[in-house]
Amino acid sequence: MSGMKIGKISLRNNVLLAPMSGVTDLPFRRLVKKFGASLVISEMIASRAMILQTRESLKKCQKDDAHYPMSVQLAGCEPEVMAEAAKLNEDLGADIIDINFGCPVKKVVNGFAGSALMKDEDLATRIMEAVVKAVKIPVTMKMRLGWNYENLNSPSLAKKAENVGIKMLTVHGRTRCQMYNGSANWELISHVKETVKIPLIANGDIKNSADAKKALELSKADGIMIGRACYGKPWLISQVNSELKNEEKIATPTIAEQKKIVLNHINEMIDHYGEQTAIPLARKHIGWYSSGLKGSAEFRARINTIQGHANVYSEIERFYDLQI
Ligand SMILES: Cc1cc2nc3c(=O)[nH]c(=O)nc-3n(C[C@H](O)[C@H](O)[C@H](O)COP(=O)(O)O)c2cc1C
Repeated sequence: MSGMKIGKISLRNNVLLAPMSGVTDLPFRRLVKKFGASLVISEMIASRAMILQTRESLKKCQKDDAHYPMSVQLAGCEPEVMAEAAKLNEDLGADIIDINFGCPVKKVVNGFAGSALMKDEDLATRIMEAVVKAVKIPVTMKMRLGWNYENLNSPSLAKKAENVGIKMLTVHGRTRCQMYNGSANWELISHVKETVKIPLIANGDIKNSADAKKALELSKADGIMIGRACYGKPWLISQVNSELKNEEKIATPTIAEQKKIVLNHINEMIDHYGEQTAIPLARKHIGWYSSGLKGSAEFRARINTIQGHANVYSEIERFYDLQI
């Protein structure tokens, strides 16, 4: 599988990190990128908060220089606001804007954003058109198969997206009504491939390179996007990528290397958020990293109660040293 292009931007490979609110912040994106992901995308940012330049939205769209290309994902339902938020991000240095038509969460859908927009193709099209016109950088879009199995309109919305100048599409192979239940249907994504020429990315339930191969085969997509399987495994995308290219397998980092990765990740979180915010946020990552290792349940329980970065660091060091 060779690299592909989003407008004029060439990607090194076709395995992408999925945007995940509360997970794919700057420190995590930086880490996954360092391991070789071709594209990482910000957490979803509400376009209204973005144009108000709230502290939180500015943190979410932050980019570092080594972080090319950087895609910022926007959600919202007002074309002008989405367009303004996109332009602002272009000015702040985003290389790509991604529009979210896939989020199933009630709070977002009730505000008529995210996957609710799949029920209103006209409004969705006006949003895409306004965003594409507002910026010079490529605009991409992420959606689900449809609202429910009676309304699998991703092919039709994909065609409209292509017509207004969207440069890449990602489809999560579930409907909105499925939320995260059942399993992703990779075969249904192929109907989108039949309607458009722009690059298509298949997403949903890809956990390893065998899944990646199957998803590519069934969806006929040009690339894949991995989300939850990267929890605690920022190296997974590089492993999947090398296996798809039939290159030499990339080994999972040794325990000693994992210890360094975790400590470095926590350090970067503290730099990004400040210690008080970072430590509670880091706990879930530490839990994911340690999952499956000896004594991980007790370790997690301790991590969840101790305070102060020095104590957290020494607890992590002790835990990993016990594994060796
Ligand atoms: C905690 C969490 C947060 C998510 N946040 C976003 C988001 O901000 N934007 C988005 O487009 N999708 C979001 N998603 C959906 C993922 O990008 C992806 O489509 C979904 O998890 C299926 O892929 P996976 O099975 O590889 O995880 C989120 C998913 C999870 C689990």
